[in-house]
Amino acid sequence: MCGIVGYVGDKAVDTLLIVSLERLEYRGYDSAGIATLNGGKLGIRKQVGKIQVLKEILKEEPLEGQLGIAHTRWATHGEPSTENAHPLTDCKSEVAVVHNGIIENYTEIKKELLREGHIFRTQTDTEVIAHLIEKHLNKNLLVAVQKAVKRLEGSYALAVISIKDPDRIVVARYRSPLVIGVGRNENFVASDASAILNLTSNMIFMEDGQIGFITRRRIKILDREGKPQEKKVKIVKWHLLGGPQRDGYRHFMLKEIHEQPVVIRNVLQRRVSQDAKRIYFEHTNITKEKLLNIGRVIIQACGTSWNAGLVGKYLFEKYLRLPTEVDLSSEFRYRMPVVRGDTLVMAISQSGETADTLAGIRLAKSMFLDVLSLCNTIESTIARESDGVIYVFAGPEIGVASTKAYTAELLALFLLTIYSGRLKGTLSEEEAMRMLEELKKIPYYMEEMLDNQKEVLECAEKYYQSSNFLFLGRKFNYATALEGALKLKEISYIHAEGYAAGEMKHGPLALVDERMPVVCIAPKDSVYQKMISNIQEVKARRGKVIAIATRGDEEITKLVDHTIFIPPIREEFSPILTVIPLQLFAYHVAMKRGCHVDQPRNLAKSVTVE
Ligand code: M6R
Repeated sequence: MCGIVGYVGDKAVDTLLIVSLERLEYRGYDSAGIATLNGGKLGIRKQVGKIQVLKEILKEEPLEGQLGIAHTRWATHGEPSTENAHPLTDCKSEVAVVHNGIIENYTEIKKELLREGHIFRTQTDTEVIAHLIEKHLNKNLLVAVQKAVKRLEGSYALAVISIKDPDRIVVARYRSPLVIGVGRNENFVASDASAILNLTSNMIFMEDGQIGFITRRRIKILDREGKPQEKKVKIVKWHLLGGPQRDGYRHFMLKEIHEQPVVIRNVLQRRVSQDAKRIYFEHTNITKEKLLNIGRVIIQACGTSWNAGLVGKYLFEKYLRLPTEVDLSSEFRYRMPVVRGDTLVMAISQSGETADTLAGIRLAKSMFLDVLSLCNTIESTIARESDGVIYVFAGPEIGVASTKAYTAELLALFLLTIYSGRLKGTLSEEEAMRMLEELKKIPYYMEEMLDNQKEVLECAEKYYQSSNFLFLGRKFNYATALEGALKLKEISYIHAEGYAAGEMKHGPLALVDERMPVVCIAPKDSVYQKMISNIQEVKARRGKVIAIATRGDEEITKLVDHTIFIPPIREEFSPILTVIPLQLFAYHVAMKRGCHVDQPRNLAKSVTVE
């Protein structure tokens, strides 16, 4: 993970880098650092802790200069400490490096460099890069970095500066994203466009294996062999709602939960015609003929996006009669999947940078399969490397716990199902229109739920000290059980398991006693009676049941300890509503436990390493 930024130009370099770094803090936040070059001198400030700590240090001891690089870290090799924070330097402190990625063969390189007399000061894998550059550096930093990266195995996005070649920042990319921002008499580099979008909309997305440099007036990009490459400048405009302000909310997560009605309304306006007869997708790049000929779908994703994919599987099987698998990207990429030419691989990703999901796409492409991705981040690596993309348009999501991106992914899956169902003839026009009309009610339903959080708050108050939770759901809401459990564990550090309710008696039931809160997602749907039986089973073991039920369901209130109602909705769309109280529940529990909601320990928003 980790985020890197670099700047060369006339503006106050330390301030600019810190502001950009803050926009990348979602990538890691255990330590941060900055290096600038000023009149041939290398200045470095770095510190364990959040960027705010570094900011305070810079207030006391500012760094001036013509260019600089900065880093926010998510530790892989070496604990979070000031010493291990980037930028990292060589023996003589003439070279400073910031790195995102993992150097897999660093032990071997380190041994070799130690034998040659290099002095190491950190436990990081990155430090070998600084020493390798030192070893090859005469006057030309580009050449030294070219030679150094030839030795590296693993993944890297690099920005390097040196007092020996003081007018440029050398950059290199392999399997970790890097984008160059093009300015007037100034240039930028960052892990992703969002960090510098306030400074320029002109972006050059570096490709794997490319290396280059930026100066105030020049940008040069070479391939692995040193051949100059064309600079493809893309205009990136991302004036969507949100952005990195909390707008009066205490946390980004809470703001993002509350943005969901607006996101859903905007996407429906953008994608569905007023008469509910047409659905528009701009960038699928997959012809209708191809879509018609798909014989099988493999959805691959991680975390919350995987949970959305699970809903996708149930939708595609029910409405399109398409065999659909949903696989964790980290498994898909290594399991030698058996595919046919008519298999469509779908990737789902909020960030568009998740390393495993990206590797899954590359694997699919190596097997000549079409890849269609659902992605939130415009022009992200996953969006660019897929054959087609359906942007979910949730807007920037900053909280580590994914909320609005999940419901936006679900909406995209609903729309894709209806679109493909019409195309294949598995859905009649009337049915499709009815479905779309129902989708249009979702923002109102969400608003209603967000306006009334009384029961959620009561449950949070009652159970925030519990050590374990079970979440149970069936069919379309099996995914909701997984997602509810994931939200709770990631931000409140409570052990929580999501289960398909039917699996209860195959093991988890043994955990249930009077101390075990069990969240049962039981809207009035085709498996409602089955859920009621599961609830009875939990109650018979004195478990405490919090039910997510359909408004007006009096029967369930008599059975359970707490009921949180959702408005009545068709069962396949219900996950977009049932998840809302679970997001809020996780948020309120985390608050009561004093957890850092937006930046939970050990996690980062974008998982760009394996
Ligand atoms: O950006 P992606 O959707 O590819 O991210 C996948 C997971 O890392 C992500 O959903 C993670 O599980 C979230 N923190 C969940 O809230």
